[in-house]
Amino acid sequence: MPDRKVHAATQMTDTIFVLNGPNLNLLGSREPRIYGTQTLADIGDMLDQRAKVLKVKLDVRQSNHEGMLVDWLHEALAKASAVIINAGGYAHTSIAIRDAVAALSVPVIEVHLSNVYAREHFRRQSMIAQVARGSIVGLGPLGYVLALDAAAHLCKGAGATQAKNQIQ
Ligand code: DQA
Repeated sequence: MPDRKVHAATQMTDTIFVLNGPNLNLLGSREPRIYGTQTLADIGDMLDQRAKVLKVKLDVRQSNHEGMLVDWLHEALAKASAVIINAGGYAHTSIAIRDAVAALSVPVIEVHLSNVYAREHFRRQSMIAQVARGSIVGLGPLGYVLALDAAAHLCKGAGATQAKNQIQ
């Protein structure tokens, strides 16, 4: 008799939340020397293409409000197999977002477009890095795509199988 649990897992499509914090809605025009000229919509398009290959579902969101990001992390408790988060400036200040990330059991990957360690001193500390599975910084939009590959690899359902098959 086939193992029902295994069958159910391979049928499941993983949903990966991609959460973006304050000022990331201005990407493209905001300090292009630091953040480049690609918009958040451009990054979303890149992620959509990669998600198709990895056979995972994406839910990409942006908010300028700390509480909204906390609410979305809570929503991820029930709905997401992994979370990618660029919390923008809140990464350096928000204990509330840090605690919401810590409450998740699914893998959380932190992304920063810029190399926060090569900039102002106050950007060198990330509250989220302390509780995230891993962080990718300084690689621009490519960092999001690499984070998506990692997320699909780490989460447990069909996406993980697909990603593993591609990486091996
Ligand atoms: C950022 C880095 C943060 O320090 C900054 O406040 C941002 C963008 C990045 O993606 O490089 O808003 O998160």
